[in-house]
Amino acid sequence: MKGKSSKESFTIMNELVLPNDTNTLNNLMGGRLLHWMDIAAAISAQKHCNRIVVTASVDNVSFQHPIKLGDVITIEAKVSRAFTTSVEVRLDVYAQNIPSGTKVKSNEAYYTFVALDQNGRTIPVPPFEAETPEEVELFEGALRRRQLRLILGGKMKPNDATELKALFFGAEK
Ligand SMILES: CC(C)(COP(=O)(O)OP(=O)(O)OC[C@H]1O[C@@H](n2cnc3c(N)ncnc32)[C@H](O)[C@@H]1OP(=O)(O)O)[C@@H](O)C(=O)NCCC(=O)NCCS
Repeated sequence: MKGKSSKESFTIMNELVLPNDTNTLNNLMGGRLLHWMDIAAAISAQKHCNRIVVTASVDNVSFQHPIKLGDVITIEAKVSRAFTTSVEVRLDVYAQNIPSGTKVKSNEAYYTFVALDQNGRTIPVPPFEAETPEEVELFEGALRRRQLRLILGGKMKPNDATELKALFFGAEK
């Protein structure tokens, strides 16, 4: 069966940074950004799965530039790989200052969602098919990122993380 493409899950969300979103330095609070990213990523995961989804994990997110009061945030989200009942969503976040005409990439992140049926049980998700070279790279990296997050979440033994180990120690003979 042909998998769904990233176009089917692609989501763009815009937010204007208002006073209630900022800290005392007039910078956007990190937690508010993570909340908006969670919403954009959940919409993207739902588009792929055609199901209710729950956030299973959020990979480490670093904030590279302060985002200022009055900036416009653009969050782009798309599924980068589907597993059995879960999908990985890749996020790219931009901050635009319209009066000064600047737009910078603020950060990238990966969120993982699990699809649930009407009884709240996990249910298989449709397959995903990478189409461009950039998507193939994201798709291949997703296996290593999944192993790392499952180890950190206590769901996988480091010894079973074959692809991750190969990255550090080379493939086992
Ligand atoms: C996410 C959740 C559904 C997983 O349930 P579970 O009983 O642990 O299910 P399983 O162990 O069978 O795993 C189901 C899927 O979740 C994935 N998963 C579980 N823990 C994970 C983690 N920490 N990170 C990434 N994926 C994870 C598994 O890899 C599996 O995916 P796969 O089928 O594609 O291989 C469950 O833990 C849950 O409901 N968590 C709360 C979700 C929530 O409320 N989110 C909002 C946070 S406030």
